[in-house]
Amino acid sequence: MARTSAPASPTRPSGAPKHFLTLADLTADELNRVVRRSVVLKEMWRQGQHYEPLKGRTLAMVFELSSTRTRVSFEVGMHQLGGHALSLSPSDTHLGRGEPIEDTARVLSEMVDAVMIRTFEHDKVERFAAASSVPVINGMTSRFHPCQLLADMQTLVECRGEIAGTAVAFVGDGHNMCNSYVRAAGLFGFELRVATPPGHEPDPGLLPAPNVEFVESPVQAVAGADLVVTDVWSSMGHEGEEADRRAAFDGYQVSPALLNQAKPDALFMHCLPAHRGEEVSDDMLDDPRSVAWVEAGNRLHSQKALLEFLLVA
Ligand code: CP
Repeated sequence: MARTSAPASPTRPSGAPKHFLTLADLTADELNRVVRRSVVLKEMWRQGQHYEPLKGRTLAMVFELSSTRTRVSFEVGMHQLGGHALSLSPSDTHLGRGEPIEDTARVLSEMVDAVMIRTFEHDKVERFAAASSVPVINGMTSRFHPCQLLADMQTLVECRGEIAGTAVAFVGDGHNMCNSYVRAAGLFGFELRVATPPGHEPDPGLLPAPNVEFVESPVQAVAGADLVVTDVWSSMGHEGEEADRRAAFDGYQVSPALLNQAKPDALFMHCLPAHRGEEVSDDMLDDPRSVAWVEAGNRLHSQKALLEFLLVA
């Protein structure tokens, strides 16, 4: 079995760290390089190759919100790259007792090689990164979910070969996933059509955005689409609004019947967790056009490529 390792005593990078708070922190070229590298790392993993460029390196994962996929993929990814990940939450650290986020960033920078943070307020991640001397990765905020987009783009490359020129439809809530798709359209060169109910549009601060068109209905959005994407109607932070939101999003459910309006070989993606009977019909995730499970698994490979890019490249 091939084994490739970094030196046992990794050196600290000099100069300002690279962060990944939004897709725009990387150039289009860098993003495409990370996505292509994800495909290569996945193949190496499938072949059982050991590749440990992060031996001796540590990732701190700060979770102020729940997670299954992000937590497992970063922890397993660091392990596979030869490093180590530790998980911190407000309930078991001083983050929950009022220690300023900037102080936490400075302290973690003295001990770990990178920090992944999931929190509600996007400006908190920005403040954390501004005080950090090691790379900071946005593991999801209410504004953006850039790591999910890396996995989605990897899945698109694997299934279709190319991202540029692809027609993508986003149907549903203009929240962090929709914002991320709006930003990704220009950077990756795909055409995005967005259908959201009135009052649930993506962040106006991101608009106008290249390659993005807004349409009146889900059917208009998916017409001719290569890929259809949706997200939950009530994200973290919308607790207590579920009934109102179910009413507002009536007619925006993605189902096999809606997919029939897209291209015959269209794909369906969902970042998960999904709420069957709300943004997706009971049978959508099991439809042969759904690649949601592959998409979830690709969080592992795309984040390994991101960690390699930030810490080794
Ligand atoms: N898609 C996603 O980020 O999943 P988790 O909330 O489980 O991490």
